Amino acid sequence: MTAPSADPAVGDTLRLTVGKVAAGGHCVARYEGQVVFVRHALPGEVVDATVTEVKRGFLRADAVVVHTASADRVPPPCRYAGPGRCGGCDWQHATPAAQRRLKADVLAELLVRLGKLTPEQVDALQVTVAELPGGPLDWRTRVRYAVDRAGRAGLRAHRSHRIVEIDACPIATPAVRELPVTDRGWRPGSELSVVSSTAGDPAVLEHREVPAGRGRDRRRTRTVTRLVYGEETVVERAIGTEFELPAEAFWQVHPAAADTFAATALELLAPRAGERAYDLYGGAGLFAVALARAVGDGGTVTLVESHPGAADAARHNVRELPRVEVVAGRVERVLPALGPADLVLLDPPRAGAGRTVVEQIVAATPRAVCYVACDPAALARDTATFTELGWRLSRLRGFDAFPMTQHVECVALFEPAGASPAGRTDPALPSTGRPEDVPGEER
Ligand SMILES: C[S@@+](CC[C@H](N)C(=O)[O-])C[C@H]1O[C@@H](n2cnc3c(N)ncnc32)[C@H](O)[C@@H]1O
Repeated sequence: MTAPSADPAVGDTLRLTVGKVAAGGHCVARYEGQVVFVRHALPGEVVDATVTEVKRGFLRADAVVVHTASADRVPPPCRYAGPGRCGGCDWQHATPAAQRRLKADVLAELLVRLGKLTPEQVDALQVTVAELPGGPLDWRTRVRYAVDRAGRAGLRAHRSHRIVEIDACPIATPAVRELPVTDRGWRPGSELSVVSSTAGDPAVLEHREVPAGRGRDRRRTRTVTRLVYGEETVVERAIGTEFELPAEAFWQVHPAAADTFAATALELLAPRAGERAYDLYGGAGLFAVALARAVGDGGTVTLVESHPGAADAARHNVRELPRVEVVAGRVERVLPALGPADLVLLDPPRAGAGRTVVEQIVAATPRAVCYVACDPAALARDTATFTELGWRLSRLRGFDAFPMTQHVECVALFEPAGASPAGRTDPALPSTGRPEDVPGEER
């Protein structure tokens, strides 16, 4: 071990006692009063950690020797995991149960720090992260590879452009691992999306950045995608239905996720026959189909999706549900014109909904909002906005839809503060809960 000064530099090795987990796949330690975010460590451990980055006010470091190991520590099942190696996974060195506890702790911390909830409010939510069926390996139906200068496909090191050559990723499904990717040469600098759908359809797509135009515009780039293997359109199976979608469009990555999130959303929203529902950021129509069945023939569902291919796919996937309308466009532009709704489901990308969209949702005066979130920090920020606008986060479910990584999926229920919980019959509400059924009520 080097003997670092009070101002450690990259490459110095520090003896650290590791504290709590923090968002980002690392734990917090202190060295001479400075915060150190330590990867490859677990709370309570004593480690030697090599400094990888010096930032204003904090350091990053990788645990390289473990002197006192946590009871939760296990040997990483992947030979590419570890300091300086593949950056795809964060918690290969923790038992699956410990990974779920770490994610629940992060979720609770974010809800206080960014969500502005009190610790008591967070305790009342009883935040847990549930396992999905299938175990911690062999679950990833979609993998994004980067291609190095020599044309070899690999995965990026943590916070780096460096590409780690691998021959097989153990969290990918066996079908994804078998696709012809790591055993051949590719165009240097390109990226590859590798898909094997739940119905078994394979696809390998190559993405390249090319100049957006001539002259000055050469500096701007646009992404060109081409299918190099398999199918342009893949079929995904969920909620007893086959969904067709372009191979490049979004679908839940874990094979059990779509069924689990759709069932949880319905349980939290408790849709009633005849209700009007919005499926925002609706992709190829998973939640719209689930909601349409739940609100029945007298109800309506409006799906809003900005990716033209996904919106076309959604139109195809809801073709037998005439009360579902698909609007291709950006939620923030489309939503203000849609008018009131009884229920809103939103499943935004990692950035979350943001203030404008949360305000638009509240202005639609739904009785309940289900928020499916792949980034708990964005969910927490949007929670603070809902609270400011007089709403409350009334239920929250975490799911370990990305085992071995720091990522966690949440399904949350927001309701107007003071409303009785969704799904319970409130004698003050009419049976359908629709605005036109409420005498004298203005929306
Ligand atoms: C996390 S995915 C959810 C898709 C779908 N709900 C599902 O579960 O399959 C987010 C979706 O939002 C779309 N999207 C991103 N930004 C958007 C925006 N501003 N307005 C509408 N859709 C958007 C993406 O194309 C993507 O299909």
